[in-house]
Amino acid sequence: GDLGVVAVGFSGGQGKAGVDAGPEALIESGLLDQLRDDLGYNLHGHDAVHQYADLVPRHDPPHRGMKNPRAVSAVTRRIAEQVYSHAREGRLVLTLGGDHSIAIGTIAGTAKAVRERFAGRKEVAVIWVDAHADINTPETSGSGNIHGMPVSFLTGLARDSDDGFFGWIADEHRISIHKIVYIGLRDVDAGEKRILRENGIKAFSMFDIDRYGIGRVMDLALAHIGADTPIHLSFDVDALDPMWAPSTGTPVRGGLTLREGDFICEMVHQTGSLVAVDLVEVNPRLGPAVDAAHDTVRAGCSLVRCALGETLL
Ligand code: ARG
Ligand code: MN
Ligand code: MN
Ligand code: MN
Repeated sequence: GDLGVVAVGFSGGQGKAGVDAGPEALIESGLLDQLRDDLGYNLHGHDAVHQYADLVPRHDPPHRGMKNPRAVSAVTRRIAEQVYSHAREGRLVLTLGGDHSIAIGTIAGTAKAVRERFAGRKEVAVIWVDAHADINTPETSGSGNIHGMPVSFLTGLARDSDDGFFGWIADEHRISIHKIVYIGLRDVDAGEKRILRENGIKAFSMFDIDRYGIGRVMDLALAHIGADTPIHLSFDVDALDPMWAPSTGTPVRGGLTLREGDFICEMVHQTGSLVAVDLVEVNPRLGPAVDAAHDTVRAGCSLVRCALGETLL
């Protein structure tokens, strides 16, 4: 099949340098060659790692407590157009991050493309695999980092009337709060727990995975979404335990094994409904040991290959 690739060298959704080097590290380790040679995809847009330097202003003071708000708004707006134009051509879209703020753009792009393709009769569903819920509003966020807020902007829980501060997000870009499922949560802020509870958002934490096993959790997650619903998989590498993915900005112990992460991706691929995949928060500049970055990149490549159809047998 045809695969649109968007490599996003962007780190403005959080404070640590190096996550902008994630796509290059993944590509250098051979990910795209594997997708072409082993899985048989025709690649489009894979020639460049986008830096979006023209969209990042020199002076970008906080707005409603958000850090780098103009840069993140402008970059995600551009990413939405990039993802949309791949999806409109009927391509599956792979976005390599970059920090998780970029999902504002990727999901806005697929939400719009899916509405168009099905003439408004279908909405994209999102499987968000992460240690974190990333559903803070600017007002509940303790850090001001926009990578902790993408889901609130995508669902309309957070809004701004100014185009320069995410006011460009229109109804066609948004997702229903009932069409998102979380997997892997274990570090959720108090304000976010309240948002999840008050809005009845479907979430499977590490407790649920321990209690039911990843097999049953995936069955329940996919049942919640329903058959024949286009799926956008947004995978934050910090969902994996730091044992497997140490090189990431906000690691949290007690996470998924690599095998559980791969299984999530395999199950999502098997639905046949996948329209887009994000792999984010790989930061090859961070990590305790010499081979930390290498391990994290290898784990990220494995997740992507599983989501795009690699099987064990
Ligand atoms: N909840 C914290 C915050 O809002 C951490 C978010 C981490 N997000 C991520 N994409 N790694 O700042
Ligand atoms: Mn391109
Ligand atoms: Mn996370
Ligand atoms: Mn995240």
